[in-house]
Amino acid sequence: MSGTVLVALRGASFAYEDGPPVLSGLDFEVREGRALALLGRNGSGKTTLMRLLSGGLRPDGGELTVEGRPVRYHRKGLTALRTTVQLVVQDPDDQLFAASVGQDVSFGPLNLGLPDAEVRARVAEALAALDIAALADRPTHLLSYGQRKRTAIAGAVAMRPRVLVLDEPTAGLDPDGQERLLATLDGLRENGTTVVMATHDVDLALRWADDAALLTPSGAHTGPAADMLARTDLLTTAGLRLPWGVAVGRLLRARGLLAGGAANPRTPEELAALQVL
Ligand SMILES: Nc1ncnc2c1ncn2[C@@H]1O[C@H](COP(=O)(O)OP(=O)(O)OP(=O)(O)O)[C@@H](O)[C@H]1O
Ligand SMILES: [Mg+2]
Repeated sequence: MSGTVLVALRGASFAYEDGPPVLSGLDFEVREGRALALLGRNGSGKTTLMRLLSGGLRPDGGELTVEGRPVRYHRKGLTALRTTVQLVVQDPDDQLFAASVGQDVSFGPLNLGLPDAEVRARVAEALAALDIAALADRPTHLLSYGQRKRTAIAGAVAMRPRVLVLDEPTAGLDPDGQERLLATLDGLRENGTTVVMATHDVDLALRWADDAALLTPSGAHTGPAADMLARTDLLTTAGLRLPWGVAVGRLLRARGLLAGGAANPRTPEELAALQVL
């Protein structure tokens, strides 16, 4: 895997108060520019891991590093972390609280103490990136679920983080909403933001991610998405199924219809374009 390690958990352990360990001795890296999908069964610790990455939780053991330097959990250290890593939680209602979309998105930049003009520029940029500029004055409680999701993501984008961490961003979106979100994420990535996404959707992960991390009881197993998502053993341990593209590729190969070294199709379009023997 290429790319500098921007943020990493090293030997990280975490348990909620009075609870059993959720993560123990976990190693996890986010590499600059690599789209990373985080997968694992319900309760495997994806959300916990993401909260550790963004500093909302602090590991009981091990450490969180940004560009190799351990994060300090005092006010200044956490502010520095927030401008590097931004988490968008799964349920937008846990994130949104201001009266209007524009106010909500401006909260983070205002809190950084940025000048008004800079705050306005960032809010405009984030609303445009999420295609919700027209909703700026709309009361947040009147938004649809998909609009609330986009508003929550805009709030994180307005912080101009280097790493955007999204907890199940496509859950609850309709097919068109999912496509628009992926296009939005492509745009953010083109502008240099590294995106990490937790998802249960193996087909989406295969199509979208450069790398995939499978969270299992033995730790996080990370590698190129096309390889990791073809590892039946790991997928089973992680409570996941094989992506259909991998299954179709295998079937075509077994029937002698696809060359041994050819890549598996990741989308219906790629399947249609396959050079079947
Ligand atoms: N605030 C909390 N207090 C106590 N235990 C918690 C808390 N949040 C999560 N847990 C426990 O930690 C474990 C990991 O939960 P987590 O939410 O990180 O899993 P997840 O992989 O995100 O699951 P899902 O796919 O359902 O979102 C679970 O056993 C859960 O019950
Ligand atoms: Mg979760």
